[in-house]
Amino acid sequence: MKERMRNAGGFPLVATAALGILAAWISYLGVRDDWDSSTPIVRDVVATEIVLPYEEVHIPDGPNRDVFQTACVICHSPRLIFGQPTISAAKWTEVVHKMAATYGAPIGAEDERRIVVYLVSIQADRSDR
Ligand code: HEC
Repeated sequence: MKERMRNAGGFPLVATAALGILAAWISYLGVRDDWDSSTPIVRDVVATEIVLPYEEVHIPDGPNRDVFQTACVICHSPRLIFGQPTISAAKWTEVVHKMAATYGAPIGAEDERRIVVYLVSIQADRSDR
């Protein structure tokens, strides 16, 4: 009777070891390198051309358009400017001055004034936006 109990206690140990071996085998199947050598893997894929979408932003006609186009599209898209709500000449004067004084837009006082004239004039016709 004592002998049988000892044997019975040994069985779970064998079963645990067998399960461990089975689990190790299954995980090996999951990670082993069985790529077919003809399967392209990421490091072999070389991009020869990347085409990015390009959309020319329409810069509306208006007085001093050229000054605006020279000074105001260097750092950011004109979309940032054309997307603003309709604002007063005084507010545009502040914004344009901030671009020069704070961010370093290369424009003098006379260009600032001209650009404000342009910005206010194109606001009158927002139908193309
Ligand atoms: C030297 C770089 C530079 C130039 C040139 C420039 N900007 Fe900016 N502009 C900025 C920066 C930086 C911001 C802030 C962007 C942000 O907040 O994401 C900005 C933001 C703006 C904004 C968003 C509102 C605001 O007040 O932040 C407007 C409108 C704007 N610029 C108009 C203009 C106009 C008009 C001109 C031409 C006079 C101009 N910018 C030229 C750098 C520049």
